[in-house]
Amino acid sequence: MDSGKTLVFGCTESILLIYDDSITMMTQLLEYGQEETWRLWLSNLESYSCVVLCDTNTFQHCYPKAQAEQILPQHHQLIVVPAGEASKSFEQVVQVVEQMHVAGLGKKSILICLGGGMICDLGGFIAHIYMRGIQLAHIPTTLLCMADACLGGKNGIDFQGIKNQIGSIHHPEAIWINAAFLNTLDERTKKSGIAEMIKHTLLQSEDAFDHACQLPVNAFYDTRQILAGLRFKQKITEQDEADLGLRQILNFGHSIGHAIESESYTREKSLLHGEAILLGMLYELRLSHLYLGCSMEILRQYGRFFKKIFPDLKFEARVDDLLPYLNRDKKNNQGYRMSLLKNPGHPQTGVLVSAEAIYKCFQDDLFL
Ligand SMILES: NC(=O)c1ccc[n+]([C@@H]2O[C@H](COP(=O)([O-])OP(=O)(O)OC[C@H]3O[C@@H](n4cnc5c(N)ncnc54)[C@H](O)[C@@H]3O)[C@@H](O)[C@H]2O)c1
Repeated sequence: MDSGKTLVFGCTESILLIYDDSITMMTQLLEYGQEETWRLWLSNLESYSCVVLCDTNTFQHCYPKAQAEQILPQHHQLIVVPAGEASKSFEQVVQVVEQMHVAGLGKKSILICLGGGMICDLGGFIAHIYMRGIQLAHIPTTLLCMADACLGGKNGIDFQGIKNQIGSIHHPEAIWINAAFLNTLDERTKKSGIAEMIKHTLLQSEDAFDHACQLPVNAFYDTRQILAGLRFKQKITEQDEADLGLRQILNFGHSIGHAIESESYTREKSLLHGEAILLGMLYELRLSHLYLGCSMEILRQYGRFFKKIFPDLKFEARVDDLLPYLNRDKKNNQGYRMSLLKNPGHPQTGVLVSAEAIYKCFQDDLFL
């Protein structure tokens, strides 16, 4: 199998979508096959050793289903790490690598990540460094991971309290998406995945954003909706795989969002990644208005959407507490650089944002 190619298998009731290579290839639509096509792909790996990486929750809720549906290779080494963002750490990388080493996994191995964004980020990083790179596949089990994190090859661990400070780009060979995994996810975690989906629509067009704003919550859990966002991300990443230009539009909402997320880990009740990004987009839309003239009506529309879907999501943040995190943002260059929006469908990367503007947008009423 060629390296650097990703197949995405998305299963709905009666159709199977296969994206042949996330970076450059075409999309095929087949009307039959479903799991069989994935199994066929797995069967090509018979001479490979396989390791399946789960966290404690996906081991309990998803691994039995994956086994029962035979979407994992018959013979595999299972590694389970503690659930939660804290596992995106060097210590956890070392522990997993040790287990792979003890199990005698060689260069001809494949690591299958069965989990949410945490597992895919951790597993992707390990697949990149183990023996200078082994094959990787994802079976995403959260909405956030299905709709975003599983595709594009970015991985990473957190370092000294800062999100994704260490990582690489290592593409999965294949991604198996089955929205039925969402059935065991709690409502709060499931809903948080809508963050990256609404972000994709804001980056896409006003029509896409309008349409998404009218959807009921459950519509976001539909495979077609999930794949629509992935297809958009695929289009962007194929044009700028190394994240040197266009791909940075995907960071919209993430400068402030990551700072809020990191700061929330110092509190008793932390935010989920998606929740922090939803808040980040709220503030970055305000900055988009200040710097790029994004219309107030878009800000209000986002506010209405936010209030409808996340009526209880609140976070009292002080800019002084966020600045230490913003100061270490990877995108900084002679000041804070953010990806903002002129309007939906018209993002701009590298906008220089002053600390004063950040203070201002935190003082203003957040159009909720
Ligand atoms: N690499 C990327 O492109 C990218 C993009 C966006 C986010 N991320 C990263 O993704 C992470 C957040 O992802 P997430 O929201 O999926 O978090 P997560 O992986 O921590 O999952 C959230 C919780 O749900 C549990 N869980 C997962 N699937 C389950 C299931 N089907 N049933 C029951 N419980 C289940 C997990 O054990 C965990 O407790 C962050 O670390 C973020 O930085 C990466």
